[in-house]
Amino acid sequence: MHKITMLGTGLIGMFYTMTLHANRGRDRVAMVYSRSEERAKAFAAEWNVPRYSTDLAEAINDPETTVVVIGLPNHLHEEAVRLSVQAGKAVLCTKPLGRTAAEAKRMLDMIEEAGLFGGYLEDLAYTPKTLKAVQSVRNGALGKVLWARSRETHPGPHSDWFWDKEQSGGGAIIDLGCHCIEISRNFIGKEVRPVEVMCWADTQVHPIDAEDSAVGLVRYANGAIGQFEVSWTFRGGMDLRDEVSGTEGTIWLNHWLRTGFEMFTAEGEKGYVAEKAESDTGWLFPVGDEVGSLGYTAMFTDMLDSLDQGKQPMESFYDGYIVNAIMDAAYRSASSKQWETVVLDDWRGSDEAGGGAVLTDYDDEHYLIKEERMPDGSKKLILKHKTTGAMSQIAA
Ligand SMILES: NC(=O)c1ccc[n+]([C@@H]2O[C@H](COP(=O)([O-])OP(=O)(O)OC[C@H]3O[C@@H](n4cnc5c(N)ncnc54)[C@H](O)[C@@H]3O)[C@@H](O)[C@H]2O)c1
Repeated sequence: MHKITMLGTGLIGMFYTMTLHANRGRDRVAMVYSRSEERAKAFAAEWNVPRYSTDLAEAINDPETTVVVIGLPNHLHEEAVRLSVQAGKAVLCTKPLGRTAAEAKRMLDMIEEAGLFGGYLEDLAYTPKTLKAVQSVRNGALGKVLWARSRETHPGPHSDWFWDKEQSGGGAIIDLGCHCIEISRNFIGKEVRPVEVMCWADTQVHPIDAEDSAVGLVRYANGAIGQFEVSWTFRGGMDLRDEVSGTEGTIWLNHWLRTGFEMFTAEGEKGYVAEKAESDTGWLFPVGDEVGSLGYTAMFTDMLDSLDQGKQPMESFYDGYIVNAIMDAAYRSASSKQWETVVLDDWRGSDEAGGGAVLTDYDDEHYLIKEERMPDGSKKLILKHKTTGAMSQIAA
């Protein structure tokens, strides 16, 4: 059982506390921090938290808590990690870890030099569908993963600070791209080095300094491509979809707008439907178990079990740092309009390169390119001559 200091009483502080206190869980939030006394007091009363504070250091140094959960705006993550490390506590930090790789690396170093536990709260790597899909990929069901596409788009975030580049570190890439990049890394393999990024980013709608839309390609050393698509301009709710293509199979995941629960109401739901839902009338896509579906339940189970067992969680501060380094390259590419190298001062995976064509022998002289069943039921084979390279086809 852990007693936890929760930093932040906004959307994520609420989701995290709801998850930790659900299902008669033993882990409890024992102290909560908010800037406003009124909000801290109301949150503590609502979630049965015994103590609250409007002083960040006091909340972190609470004598009873051993774990700090950071649910504050992005520009406050580093300071919260520093104070938590000084207090000698385990730290679980929400996404993105930093606004830049340099910031994330400082946080990683602080945790590791102090020998403390650092969990990266990347919930979308832990959704029940994602965990099952990643396991299928690891079992070899898809062969070699070639392309992992991940999309998160919605009409834009719910608080002022997200829209201020200084506090957030960027726009849709830093806010949503971090999820998509880490989802793709889980499918492609975290040991595979992300090499370079090509990214388009623009401000299509909102009058802000940051990008409200972006599409990026992350090229991995084994030839795989991770594609992220992010936007704060999408209308119709929150679109969370992933696609994984391998040499032997395909996975399509839809996490939010088509989950198998579709409802029409002319009268109106008269309340909250699901995160970022734009309407409560007409066709709705409610979500039954929101914290479970978004991965929060499995995420905290892994984090606190790993802490108990003295091992690294599935998503660590190191992963957060790699994601920030990929996003840094994406921002450089969006401005240079060139492929930009992912700069990693600390790479712990493999440097093996790979990729390229897979050669399947048909006979001594030919490679098999493809088998095709035609509309009349006949089957043909497309072949390539091994020395001349000439393409041919024969009936099978
Ligand atoms: N799926 C996810 O993992 C997910 C979802 C939403 C947000 N987040 C992350 O959680 C963090 C917080 O986001 P949120 O959605 O809860 O935001 P929010 O605006 O709903 O809440 C932010 C909290 O921080 C407090 N705060 C704001 N500015 C502050 C300041 N200058 N000093 C001290 N406290 C301040 C607010 O009062 C509030 O308690 C961000 O890093 C965000 O990226 C993660």
